[in-house]
Amino acid sequence: MPTREDAPIRGRDPSRPPAWPAPPVLPGDDPGSIAIAAERLRAGGLVVFPTETVYGLGANALDARAVARVFAAKERPAFDPLIVHLADASAVGTYAEMEDADDPRVARLAARFWPGPLTLVLRKRAVIPGIVTAGLPTVGLRVPDHPVARALIRAAGVPVAAPSANRFGHLSPTRAAHVVAGLGSRVDLVLDGGPCRVGIESTVILLAAGRATLLRPGGLAIEAIEAEIGRLEVLVDGAPRTAELAPGRAGAHYAPRIPLVLANPRDPEAALAFVVRPGERVGFLAASAAGRAAAEAAGGPFAAVEVLDANGDAVGAAARLFDALHSLQAADLSRIVAEPFPDVGLGRAVMDRLRRAARAAGDVREEPAFNR
Ligand code: TXA
Ligand code: MG
Repeated sequence: MPTREDAPIRGRDPSRPPAWPAPPVLPGDDPGSIAIAAERLRAGGLVVFPTETVYGLGANALDARAVARVFAAKERPAFDPLIVHLADASAVGTYAEMEDADDPRVARLAARFWPGPLTLVLRKRAVIPGIVTAGLPTVGLRVPDHPVARALIRAAGVPVAAPSANRFGHLSPTRAAHVVAGLGSRVDLVLDGGPCRVGIESTVILLAAGRATLLRPGGLAIEAIEAEIGRLEVLVDGAPRTAELAPGRAGAHYAPRIPLVLANPRDPEAALAFVVRPGERVGFLAASAAGRAAAEAAGGPFAAVEVLDANGDAVGAAARLFDALHSLQAADLSRIVAEPFPDVGLGRAVMDRLRRAARAAGDVREEPAFNR
């Protein structure tokens, strides 16, 4: 029985594939495409664009109606704020309170890491509509490091509010094809910029009112940020202030349609996870080629295997994570076993995503994220 939430968006029922045609996909490196996309943004449209982390579902951040369409297209709960993307750091003072914009740590991080996979949460100015920040007094700002994203934002002449271009609770897209499969014609236009280089969402830190708090580990290693501005305060999932400061952490994250458990193939206590019963189709997500060999020695045979990085390098693993999960999800599996990744550098962001996927799938044996 269809519910109100299933109501068609712009006259179409998004749950029926034939009535869900693909949106126009234009090459991002063509100046003509950028001009068309920028015009769409200015007219209140939804434009998907590549960034170095993941694809973003963009709308003019100063247009509350356009931003409302982003929430509708994603089926995103209204309590979860969007990141505002800027063409360069000089615009921070236009959208953030002077006291925060002038914080020397902001200048320092912007000079060192922007453009790049870092989002700074600062107290907002009134020009940013409340819907963008889900009513919070703060706004997340980021200068993405992708030529298509920067050309688009510059050509549009407006800041661009953009969450990852996936439906709520689904995997973040790292290719235009993921976006087309996930959102279809709920968006007006997709700019194709090829696969995303970093592959995992930006690191989000709160610098409002003198704080320095990690809200989300991501594509920029926490160690690199701490080398610039000192130790970051860490929020623990479930603690009272966490839901208030980091609303995106409260709700369900990527919930795999296939159960996912974290298990180390070298750990005898985890051996059962690697045993494949007759008729079972099990997928293995390996941290490295050595992890694959260990898992195949511990059990199998696996119906599908994805290796995040042959040498177990965290940067390579972050870049492949969502691609690998998209592939496993398409492989008709009964369950996925994922090898844990060392909790340092970008490995922390990879493990954060895997722990959330495991927890959403009901594997509550894992300890909370952020054990640093
Ligand atoms: O790499 C990225 O960050 C990508 C690309 C497109 O830029 N964007 C992205 O957006 O991952 P999204 O909406 O999927 O995740 C943004 C996260 C959410 O967890 C949200 O709660 C948090 O940033 N966030 C945004 N503004 C915030 C604010 N004012 N206070 C606290 N958290 C905020
Ligand atoms: Mg997201």
